[in-house]
Amino acid sequence: MVFDLVAVAFWVMLPAYVPNNIAVLAGGGAPIDGGRTMGGRRLLGDGKTWRGTAVGTLGGVALAQLLNYVEPVVADAIGVPVPAFPLAAAVGLALGAMLGDVGASFVKRRTGRKRGAAFPVVDQLDFVVGALACAALFAPGWFLATFTLPVVAVVVVLTPVLHVATNGIAYVLGLKDEPY
Ligand code: CTP
Ligand code: MG
Repeated sequence: MVFDLVAVAFWVMLPAYVPNNIAVLAGGGAPIDGGRTMGGRRLLGDGKTWRGTAVGTLGGVALAQLLNYVEPVVADAIGVPVPAFPLAAAVGLALGAMLGDVGASFVKRRTGRKRGAAFPVVDQLDFVVGALACAALFAPGWFLATFTLPVVAVVVVLTPVLHVATNGIAYVLGLKDEPY
């Protein structure tokens, strides 16, 4: 029961987890805010680029296609009926994750936090909020059938743990400037 919930929560969030990590690898180039400021501070900052956002989103959507392909095998192997991803759901999860992260940077700049500054809880859950909101918007039927209350609860607990772990690894590998 708990294993089933954790398996489904992890599986359905994979297209939302991966975009941020791809953005770290693909980032660079023109910032989304084009250098614009608001109240003397950057709108978003140099850490949110068009390239990182686009490649991250495409990467998440591509991963969902791969998951759709292996879904029958995985479901059979672990004995849990993990769901497939309709395209609208895949786009919602991946784009939503990126937009949640962008939204958090907007809030970080407004609250005086410099690029790369830690913002505990927000850093760990911004993309979850974005992914769930966009998935609900783009694929409402799929969203309601997939993100039951227990699944959402597991996602909210599991995600910060995975986020801290993967960013710590990316930092140790020298891929990220900060371990969060
Ligand atoms: N990145 C990007 N585009 C995004 C998100 C991330 O290009 N939409 C890249 C940037 O190179 C960024 C790195 O991934 O520096 C790490 O992402 P993140 O930690 O989200 O950004 P920060 O640089 O820490 O900036 P912020 O304080 O605004 O979160
Ligand atoms: Mg950061």
